[in-house]
Amino acid sequence: MEIFHEIKPLKAFLREKNKAGFVIGFAPTMGALHEGHLSLIQASKNAGCFTVCSIFVNPTQFNNPDDLKKYPRTLEADIAMLKAAGCDLLFAPGAAEIYPAKSVTTFEFGSLSNTMEGQFRPGHFSGVALVVSKLFHIVEPQHAFFGQKDWQQFTIIRQLVHDLNFNLTLHVVPTLRESDGLAMSSRNKRLTEQQRSKAIAFYKALMHCQFQLAAGKSMTSIQNEIKDTIEQDAELRLEYLYLADRENLSYLNHVEQPNKAVLCIAGFVGDVRLIDNILL
Ligand code: PAF
Repeated sequence: MEIFHEIKPLKAFLREKNKAGFVIGFAPTMGALHEGHLSLIQASKNAGCFTVCSIFVNPTQFNNPDDLKKYPRTLEADIAMLKAAGCDLLFAPGAAEIYPAKSVTTFEFGSLSNTMEGQFRPGHFSGVALVVSKLFHIVEPQHAFFGQKDWQQFTIIRQLVHDLNFNLTLHVVPTLRESDGLAMSSRNKRLTEQQRSKAIAFYKALMHCQFQLAAGKSMTSIQNEIKDTIEQDAELRLEYLYLADRENLSYLNHVEQPNKAVLCIAGFVGDVRLIDNILL
C-alpha cells in the first residue's frame, strides 16, 4: 500500500494512475478504523477501483474541543488493517497540510443541516463539507464511498456534490453492526466494558420505535416513552430520536410510504456521543 502525507506528490501519483486508465475509488475517514470502514474499502474494490483511503481527524467539524482531543487515533493499527484489506493507497495528512492557514469558507445546507446533528453540533456540517471538498479536489476520485450510519452527512455530501459539480458517483454502504446490534463506530473504542454493554440501548430504541410505528403509533407519542426508558440509566442520555424523510430530512410523525423514511437516534453513554439510524 502506498502511503502519502503530502498533497503535491499524492496528486502527481494519482494523475499518473488516472492517465494509465485506473478508476479512483475514495473512502474518506477519520481513522480508528473498524470493519465498517473496511466495508467501504471493499465496496470500492468490488467496483474495480484503485482504492484510496484518507485518515484525517478534521478539526473544523468538531464543535466540542474535548471531543476532538479525545477522538481515538490509532494510525499504526489502521495502516495494518488497510493493508490487510487490500487498500491501494492511504493519504494521512497532518493538520497543517490540509489547513496551512485558517479557512474562512463556510457552508450552509438550509433545512438539510438545521436538523438532528446540525441542531446539536453547530458548524459540524460546514466543517465536514469543507474537508470533503478539499479531499475531493486533492484525490479527484470517480467514486466516493460513505457509511449509512452518518445518513445526514451522506445527504449533505450528495447536495455538495450536486451543487459544486463534483464529477464523481457517490455510494452509501450499509452500517455494519456488532453481534448484539450496536453500530460499529470509532467512538465505541472510548467505551468502558460496562458502557459498551449499555450502548446497545440506542439500537434497541430504534427497534422498539420501528415496532411501535408499525403498530400505528405516532413519533410524538413514542419519543418521550423512549427517552424515559433510556434515561432510567443515569449514564445514558437521549439527545434526539427523529423519523425523517430520507431525501430532504424533514421530520415525519408516521411512516407514510415504504422506503422513504429514516429513523435516526443520537445520545450519550457517559461522555461518548453515539449516533445510529435505520432505513424504514
Ligand atoms: O464520516 C467521517 O468519518 C468524516 O465526517 C469524514 C467524511 C471523513 C470527513 O472528515
